[in-house]
Amino acid sequence: MFSRLARPALSKCMSQRTFTTSSKTNAKVAVLGASGGIGQPLSLLLKTSPAITQLSLYDIAHTPGVAADLSHIETPAKVSGHMGPDELDACLEGADLVLIPAGVPRKPGMTRDDLFNTNASIVLNLAKACAKKCPQAMVGIITNPVNSTVPIAAEVYKREGVQGWEKRLFGVTTLDAVRANTFIAEARGLEVAHMSVPVIGGHSGVTIIPLISQATPAVSFPPEERKALTVRIQNAGTEVVEAKAGAGSATLSMAFAAARFAGKVLEALAGGEGQVECAFVKSNETDSSYFATPILLGKNGVEANLGVGKMIEYEIQLVSEAKEELQANIKKGEDFVAQNWS
Ligand code: NAD
Ligand code: LMR
Repeated sequence: MFSRLARPALSKCMSQRTFTTSSKTNAKVAVLGASGGIGQPLSLLLKTSPAITQLSLYDIAHTPGVAADLSHIETPAKVSGHMGPDELDACLEGADLVLIPAGVPRKPGMTRDDLFNTNASIVLNLAKACAKKCPQAMVGIITNPVNSTVPIAAEVYKREGVQGWEKRLFGVTTLDAVRANTFIAEARGLEVAHMSVPVIGGHSGVTIIPLISQATPAVSFPPEERKALTVRIQNAGTEVVEAKAGAGSATLSMAFAAARFAGKVLEALAGGEGQVECAFVKSNETDSSYFATPILLGKNGVEANLGVGKMIEYEIQLVSEAKEELQANIKKGEDFVAQNWS
């Protein structure tokens, strides 16, 4: 059932900063899928982080070029490029944080679940390598369908005997919160830098649940406008897919979102307090075994799950409507590993 945890003021914790000078120093960050539409701008943003001393880029193509290009930027992080499965272990060795945007994006008319057949095995294999080479690293999975790829990685970690993975495995849903902040600030003419809207649930269609009633600063909308904003946040990925007209899905806003997530993880690893971000994690907060909620990050990953908080009736209904799809997505990921484990 829904927890009603008393939560710290999320507005303070869910700040929109990406990197600060106090973020974990000497961190090694690996990006898997680094040559892609998300991977390249994400790696660029990471290269600007003073906290990162080693940025290791892995892909099945083009990583030598991406790494050479980034390595000329006058920031401390050393950049290495690793191409093809033979070079994956070297990329992961000693990583503190692994970000995974490897895999195909949607084209117009597709759902995220339509990516499952291609992306499930990519994530399975990359998770296996992470479980073997850097089992203690924080792992942020960006690859869609996130509702299934996170359970896939979890099943791999279980089978590889990795302890405590529940605290270190995250589906990166930050982009949903970034969009909610943008759209709601726009709708009310408020300064977006100070807007903070938790987005819970999963990362596809009706499973994306913005909690506008918990926005800070507080905002109120007539029911029809609240519904329209909710639907826009739920369909924002599709908005980009259609605008790109076959050339992929969100890449630049996703890179920004993943860099923000990474900045908070690194800050928390360095002992920084009050780092909160919504993420899709193993969860006891609702009937779904994985669920995105605001997460307080710490030195070991998930320090505390801050839960769904106090929702209005409309939001409780959204959670209930998401349950069937979310649970089916989770089961599909778990079944995939059961059927393909070797
Ligand atoms: P892209 O096609 O531009 O890039 C994907 C990269 O993955 C390519 O460089 C490709 O070579 C690489 N790749 C493929 N197989 C690989 C493997 N086995 N190992 C390593 N790298 C491999 O796609 P993109 O636009 O960067 O999107 C990547 C993924 O992120 C998609 O699944 C997309 O749906 C997802 N996405 C998620 C969110 C989110 O909010 N979580 C947002 C946007 C996109
Ligand atoms: C997004 O939300 O932009 C991503 O999940 C990509 C997509 O397919 O919509």
